[in-house]
Amino acid sequence: MKEKIESLLAEIESLVCKTENEIEEARVRLLGKKGEITRLFEEFRTVPSEQKREFGQKLNQLKTAAASKIEAMRSAVQETGSSKASFDLTKPGDAYPLGSRHPVSIVREEIVEIFRKFGYDVAEGPEIEDDWHVFEALNFPPEHPARDMQDTFFISSSANSILLRTHTSSVQVRAMEKLPLPIRIVCPGRVFRNEAISARAHCIFHQVEGLYIDENVTFADMKQAILLFAREMFGAGSQIRMRPSYFPFTEPSAEVDVSCNICHGKGCNICKGTGWLEIMGCGMVDPNVLEASGIDSRKYSGFAFGMGIERIAMLKWQVRDLRNYFENDLRFLREFETSL
Ligand code: DAH
Repeated sequence: MKEKIESLLAEIESLVCKTENEIEEARVRLLGKKGEITRLFEEFRTVPSEQKREFGQKLNQLKTAAASKIEAMRSAVQETGSSKASFDLTKPGDAYPLGSRHPVSIVREEIVEIFRKFGYDVAEGPEIEDDWHVFEALNFPPEHPARDMQDTFFISSSANSILLRTHTSSVQVRAMEKLPLPIRIVCPGRVFRNEAISARAHCIFHQVEGLYIDENVTFADMKQAILLFAREMFGAGSQIRMRPSYFPFTEPSAEVDVSCNICHGKGCNICKGTGWLEIMGCGMVDPNVLEASGIDSRKYSGFAFGMGIERIAMLKWQVRDLRNYFENDLRFLREFETSL
């Protein structure tokens, strides 16, 4: 019996099985009901009692060795089997789910890109501003009723109040204070107004401001720049018209309409039957504004314009409710997936 146990131990040690079937065969041969080890256990009954202890231990060792060898071979076979399945190197990779660009970003970049082609640089300024840059230097004296046009969020209202900028025209002032002349910039950015939130108004929105200052800049230059912009943005056949308006920082000032790109001037519910869509405010920079930033208004002149990015996006995609831009509803954002 001793030799039998020893020879089986050696056999188990050198046992090699390559498939699940081979392993199962070995298991049955050794540990099955009629297996060799099982048979040895039966034989054990006849072992004289003084040898029982020695043979008992040996037999148990043999059984454990057989069971663990079979277990080890089984997991080795399963592992190589499953790794074959999960590492098919010829399989195409899983597509990474891509997000979409926000419509405000898409339109902002489109506007900036158009003006960049015309030779405009991009300038940016702080969202938390002081009264000087948002109002005073733009020819809104303290207590002037024009300040009521823009409901302001004040952070501190001491002598020189700190506030959230209500328009990106503040960046004009910062540019005029520090950039060498001539200046030709567009200033995209986020602005804040204390408005009740509705489909047509929001307390946060985005604007792009434009500014061109040089010698002999005229109203005709402004009109041409805006016409070219409108044709790039809304289509080559677009027309513009200007209506007289008022802004404290420009004189004369105008409101710009573009011909409705939906009904092509025939009149629809987007243009409310007029054939025209309002897109921006503009005007010749008021000499007081130039002087406030230290620019000689007898030598230099310039024009400025400002437009709402959400407004342009609304016209481009007929989004009727402004709140969509800020609620991050994936059903809305996914509409722009193709505009990447
Ligand atoms: N800052 C104005 C606003 O927020 C928009 C604007 C109008 C800007 C006329 C300009 C301009 O530069 O010339 O309502």
